[in-house]
Amino acid sequence: MKEQIAKIKETALLEIEKISNLQELNDVKVKYLGKKGELTSVLRGMKDLTPEERPVIGGLVNEVRDNIENLIQIKEATLQEELLNKKLESEKIDITLPSTKIKRGSKHPINRIIEEVEDIFVSMGYDVVDGPELETDEYCFEKLNLPKGHPARDMQDSFYVDPEHLLRTQTSAVQARVMMANEEKTPIRVICPGKTYRRDDDATHSHQFGQVEGLVIDKDISLADLKGTLEVFVRKMLGKNSNLRFRPSYFPFTEPSYEVDVSCFKCGGKGCNLCKQTGWIEILGSGMVHPNVLKENGYDPEKYTGFAFGTGLDRLAMFKYGIPDIRYFYTNDVRFLKQFDRKDVE
Ligand code: DAH
Repeated sequence: MKEQIAKIKETALLEIEKISNLQELNDVKVKYLGKKGELTSVLRGMKDLTPEERPVIGGLVNEVRDNIENLIQIKEATLQEELLNKKLESEKIDITLPSTKIKRGSKHPINRIIEEVEDIFVSMGYDVVDGPELETDEYCFEKLNLPKGHPARDMQDSFYVDPEHLLRTQTSAVQARVMMANEEKTPIRVICPGKTYRRDDDATHSHQFGQVEGLVIDKDISLADLKGTLEVFVRKMLGKNSNLRFRPSYFPFTEPSYEVDVSCFKCGGKGCNLCKQTGWIEILGSGMVHPNVLKENGYDPEKYTGFAFGTGLDRLAMFKYGIPDIRYFYTNDVRFLKQFDRKDVE
C-alpha cells in the first residue's frame, strides 16, 4: 500500500508539473483528491488493514494529500498570473501615439448675436420669451392693428399655409401673445428672438431670417425710455461711439413710429461703401405702442403706455462681422462657419 501511495504521489507531481491551463488543473484535482479520486480509494481500502498499520497509512495519505493540494495551489496561482499577464499584454495601449483629431463645432454667428442681445437685455431686467413660427393671422396681424385688407399688410410678403395660418413674418406676433397671456395685465418687459419668414430672396433678403422684438409696457413709459434703451443696446452691440438717429416712419402697431439709424461703424459716419456714402445704417423699427394694440390685447391705454422695437438678427450679424451675403447663414459652408470659432470675433 505504501508503494501505491508513493506511486500516486509521484505521478500526481509529474502531472501537475506539466499542466498548462486551469481546466486541466481542475481535472487533476478531481482525479487525485475528489470523492472518487485515487487517494480517496486508498483510504477506502484501509478497512482491510491491521489496527497498527491504519494510523501509519492514514498519516501517509494525509501527508501526500497536503503535498498535492499545496502544489495545486501554487500551480493555480502561477497559471492565474500568466493569464492576467497575457490579458494585460493584449489590452496594452500605446499612450505615446498621436491621437486622431476631434473636430469641434463652432457657434453659428446668428446664435452668437442672439446670445449677445439676450445678455444685454437680461442685464436690464428683461425676460426672454418664445412664440410659434407657424402663427395665426390674428396674432401676426389683426391684434397688431392690421385688420384684414389693411394696405400695410403688403409691406410683408407672407407664406400662408391656409387662410388663417402663416409662417410668421415678424416676431411682433409675440408682442400680442405676451400681452394676451398676461391675465392680470401687469407691466411687461420682454424680448423675443426667433425665426421669421417672407417671400424674399436676394443677397440681403432671405426667405428665412431672424428678428428680435422688444416690448415694454408700464405706467408712464415715454419716448425718452425708448431712446435711452436703444442707445444702450446699440452701443453695447456695435460699439460705444455709435450714434443713433430716429427718423419718423410708419408701422401700424406703433404711433409715433421711427426707423432708427446707427452711425456707420466702418467709417464712423464719414461715408463709405457699407453705408452707401450716407454715414448712417438703418437697423431698427420702433415706436410707442399704438393705443389700438394695447386695447386689442386687453391693456387700458388710459392707464398704460409702452414702447416696442424690432430688428433683424441677420442684419446685425452682417454688419458686425462684415458678411456680404445673407445666404451664407443657412448654406452652412464649414469654411464660413469655422471662422466663428475664434476668440477675436467675440
Ligand atoms: N415688425 C417690424 C418689421 O418686421 C419691425 C418693427 C417695427 C417691430 C416697429 C416693432 C416696431 O416692434 O415697433 O418690419
